[in-house]
Amino acid sequence: MTRRLGIIGHPVAHSLSPVFQQAAFDACGIEARYEHWDTPPETLPERIASLRAPDILGANITIPHKVAVLSLLDELEPFALRVGAVNTVVVRNGRLVGANTDGPGFVRALRESAGFEPTGRQILLVGAGGAARGIAFALAESGAARLAVWNRTGARATELVAELRAVYPEVRCETHSSLVSLSGFDAAVNCTSVGMEGTGTEHQLPFEPSDTDSGCLVVDIVYKPEETMLLRAARAAGRPTLGGLPMLIFQGALAFERWTGRDAPIEVMMRAARQALGSPVPPC
Ligand code: ATR
Repeated sequence: MTRRLGIIGHPVAHSLSPVFQQAAFDACGIEARYEHWDTPPETLPERIASLRAPDILGANITIPHKVAVLSLLDELEPFALRVGAVNTVVVRNGRLVGANTDGPGFVRALRESAGFEPTGRQILLVGAGGAARGIAFALAESGAARLAVWNRTGARATELVAELRAVYPEVRCETHSSLVSLSGFDAAVNCTSVGMEGTGTEHQLPFEPSDTDSGCLVVDIVYKPEETMLLRAARAAGRPTLGGLPMLIFQGALAFERWTGRDAPIEVMMRAARQALGSPVPPC
């Protein structure tokens, strides 16, 4: 029986998940079809109920359903429960289990693509939306020593920091008052949409990377374009950098590993995603 999976969101036509997940299933010789499941909010309960069909292996969940889906599932993994958001559904013994691989995917990208171990480190997060939230929780979980959050709308940063402090009292969590001072961090992460294609902010910097300390890793979670203004400016200033594509791939890899019980073919997934983005693909 061909197993089916899909990405549940609205809209989902632009999603890269079907491209690199299908490439992963094909490379592993697993008979499965990964589909676009565009789901307007009013039909979410129906869509989640349809995951109980015998040919379904699982699903990904994206905007705007990552929080709304919680109440429709049978079970949540502990990290998904703490973050309060789900991006992956796994069918386990007929039960729909919610997982969050966004933040853990970010941490795995830090480790495997940038060689950066977050344990004991001081990290600045710029942005306080859904993406920043998953990343902040995963960094706290990984034993970061200090997390500072700056956001254009200050109240959202304050709220996120209050939640982090309540769940991770051992981590020094604080709001960061100004982007004028960026020293004292081992990594600075853009968690906003500034720089993303189609937002009108492609030529803006979410922060000035040359204001960070010289060894500070500058990370952008934006992956389209693959080389954002921030990454270009950071490289010009001699900072080590990490782009958004590895995070996207590793969140998918962690989902793939849950669905199949097998290691994800990271290189295959990366190549497929880069090809779809129109980025240069290195030869095998
Ligand atoms: P996501 O789930 O992708 O994080 P979100 O929850 O809408 O999406 O959050 C978007 C983030 O990008 C927020 O931190 C937002 O700042 P505000 O809370 O002040 O809106 C930030 N953001 C978006 N556009 C921005 C801009 N032009 N300048 C600075 N920050 C911006």
